[in-house]
Amino acid sequence: MNEESHETMQSEHLDRPDTAGDGGATSWPGAGGAPRRPGAESSNGSARRSDDGLTDGLSDGLTNGGELGPTGRPEPHFPEPPPLTSHGPARVIAMCNQKGGVGKTTTAINLGAALAELGRKVLVIDFDPQGALSVGLGVNAQELDLTIYNLLIERGHEIHEVIVPTRTPNLDVVPANIDLSAAEVQLVGEVAREQILARALRPALDEYDVILIDCQPSLGLLTVNALTASHGVIIPLECEFFAMRGVALLIDTIDKITDRLNPRLQVDGILATMYDSRTLHSREVVRSVVDHFGDQVFHTVISRTVKFPDATLAAEPITTYSSDHSGAGAYRQLARELIARGGAA
Ligand SMILES: Nc1ncnc2c1ncn2[C@@H]1O[C@H](COP(=O)(O)OP(=O)(O)OP(=O)(O)O)[C@@H](O)[C@H]1O
Ligand SMILES: [Mg+2]
Repeated sequence: MNEESHETMQSEHLDRPDTAGDGGATSWPGAGGAPRRPGAESSNGSARRSDDGLTDGLSDGLTNGGELGPTGRPEPHFPEPPPLTSHGPARVIAMCNQKGGVGKTTTAINLGAALAELGRKVLVIDFDPQGALSVGLGVNAQELDLTIYNLLIERGHEIHEVIVPTRTPNLDVVPANIDLSAAEVQLVGEVAREQILARALRPALDEYDVILIDCQPSLGLLTVNALTASHGVIIPLECEFFAMRGVALLIDTIDKITDRLNPRLQVDGILATMYDSRTLHSREVVRSVVDHFGDQVFHTVISRTVKFPDATLAAEPITTYSSDHSGAGAYRQLARELIARGGAA
């Protein structure tokens, strides 16, 4: 499906409840508007989350001796967070970008695994009919009778029926398979069709610290459901020339959902992926992303390495497939950075 048809679907879903079509809700925290910093509001009532934002850390001098990181800014040190003494309520975070192949699924798997290593209880939701997240975590979703599809469409199911443990301790998955491709059409006629995932997740919120939703590359009704169910969004951007294409539309969608469906939703960060430090091009892309979005860009950058597809083939997170590899280290740092920003407990 091309970007134009995503745009049509997206505006259909979002413009119906409110025909004002103001189009003016495009302000972006890093581009002049008031930053919606993770942790700035206790939207899910979690009192243990720190309000200390990343910029505060920088001004306190918590940097690695002022050394510039790959994003061209002094890179802070992200300490290992203290273990949690109790679990829940979960903060729900969607991995979202309607552009395909930017690292959404890879980030959901590996950020999830890195948070799980830190003792956080993590649930990842496969919300893409391609089922890549399920496959990447070793779940053969094509053979399952119950997946996220049944939870969304059929009455009488409860999320615990579809949660599958993975081989990684503290990391569970709700799988998806191709059945989910029918859900988009089937949900259109439902009452409160944008809130169906949020309602389905509710019974699991108290057991997990973080729930990560792997969105499909579209801004259709499934993605609107994911954003409506979330507290935060992580936007992976591939370090290539057209990285920023479509980001304005994504931000517009997030703003509309914040206005109309889910006021607590905030952008947790933009993640540069498939970075190649040897190319000027990669460095320039990251610099222009930072110029546009400022502190919304994670200091952590994910380098391009064949270890990620290799780990997917092995159906394991990189943190166990190649624990000492720098790619595993990068997702561990991302987990610590997310926690330091208040994006996870
Ligand atoms: N940092 C990386 N370096 C090299 N390859 C990567 C990296 N991250 C992801 N990949 C590979 O790129 C491909 C696309 O990544 P991924 O599936 O995570 O993207 P996606 O945004 O979820 O894609 P889609 O939009 O199709 O769901 C996969 O084959 C994955 O293994
Ligand atoms: Mg994917």
